[in-house]
Amino acid sequence: MGHPIFIRNASQLVTLQGSSQAPLVKEAMSELGVIENGSVWIENGVICAVGTDEALFEKYGERLGEVEIVDAGGKLVTPGLVDPHTHLVFAGSRENEFNMRLQGATYMEIMNSGGGIHATTRRTKSASHEELFKESFERLNQFLRHGVTTVEAKSGYGMEWETELKQLEVAKLLNEKHVIDVVPTFMGAHAIPKEYKENPDQFVELLINELIPKVAELGLAEFNDVFCEHGVFTPEQSRRILEAGKRHGLIAKIHADEIEPYEGAELAAEVGAISADHLLRASEKGMKAMAEKGVVGVLLPGTAYFLMAESANGRKMIDIGVPVALSTDCNPGSSPTVSLPFIMNLGCLKMGMTPAEVITAATINAAHAINRGQEIGSIEVGKKADITIFNVDNYMKLQYSYGVNHTHTVVKSGKVVVRGGQLLEELSLSKN
Ligand code: NIG
Ligand code: FE
Repeated sequence: MGHPIFIRNASQLVTLQGSSQAPLVKEAMSELGVIENGSVWIENGVICAVGTDEALFEKYGERLGEVEIVDAGGKLVTPGLVDPHTHLVFAGSRENEFNMRLQGATYMEIMNSGGGIHATTRRTKSASHEELFKESFERLNQFLRHGVTTVEAKSGYGMEWETELKQLEVAKLLNEKHVIDVVPTFMGAHAIPKEYKENPDQFVELLINELIPKVAELGLAEFNDVFCEHGVFTPEQSRRILEAGKRHGLIAKIHADEIEPYEGAELAAEVGAISADHLLRASEKGMKAMAEKGVVGVLLPGTAYFLMAESANGRKMIDIGVPVALSTDCNPGSSPTVSLPFIMNLGCLKMGMTPAEVITAATINAAHAINRGQEIGSIEVGKKADITIFNVDNYMKLQYSYGVNHTHTVVKSGKVVVRGGQLLEELSLSKN
């Protein structure tokens, strides 16, 4: 698997050690396990040693001739960023709706009049596998340039078998072909298709009796997500959809309390969801229930920003004990971005989180939100060598100096794939 890599002398190496078993909560979200003058030894795609440069030089000094040395002097080294909530596989864009919203139309009005999710569904339906693959592959390149090494990807721009299948197959192929790991979620319950408008329960039956069992049987998704929202799926319909997924081995996730308070956070706790996402309008009762059950709150302040809504109360959730993660929600309607570092900045400025907390939220807690806490999200011996190096000398500056892509180097599965901010052309970006 190529030669070993020796990342040397980071001004700050954020390890997040000791966080693999469960997501971090409360004060522990600030315990980054920073090593100054830190170094990492990587072999066969795996992290083999972590410590000060002095300690690692003592251990490996004799092998310097056989390794690729990555000089991290004056730089910040963190676990590769993890994005636990994206709608990665879609066709087209919706800047026309952005323009309409700037003139007063609301997101739900646009959706209810046949645009929004329905517009992207039409585009995605008519796109070929190849077109969808190409557009999404380019998005993954952009994610990588921003320091992201794993993304979750939802279906949901089909809401019928053929197109849902196409999205999940494309996600699978992306996972195989691109260096970024793509973790698939089935989200057939993304909107009520027009033809079921008068009888949404019939669509719920279709999801429960046909689509969920087929997706599970083909092994095309790990999670099952639902848009629980006024005018979309009710809490009762959402519960049935999530329970059906669980019976077929799909872990529950939920778009909860995004536009209106709807007891989505409470439902997430009740069904034992791994995460509840959005939570702009979550109740205190719901937050407490999530904290008690250890449901990760995946917060998406980019969506609030783009929809010109008030962000979720991240500060309060952390203080209550909810394990908080951050994500782009990358999608063409409510958050067309791949910049997780910008989302982290919004976490600070719009949700009262500290620079330390947002790093935890975009690494180890994000990994736990997609059931990957034992493999990625921290820099510890035995974990996958997914590491991002930023061109700032301390972790506070990553948020302080905002709107700039500070990503310098990315190591993915033990290979350097971004250097000096550029994707390495000599790599085909393929996994093998
Ligand atoms: O997470 N809320 C539902 N789904 C996405 C938006 C999808 C779209 O507008 O295309 C979200 O915000
Ligand atoms: Fe979403």
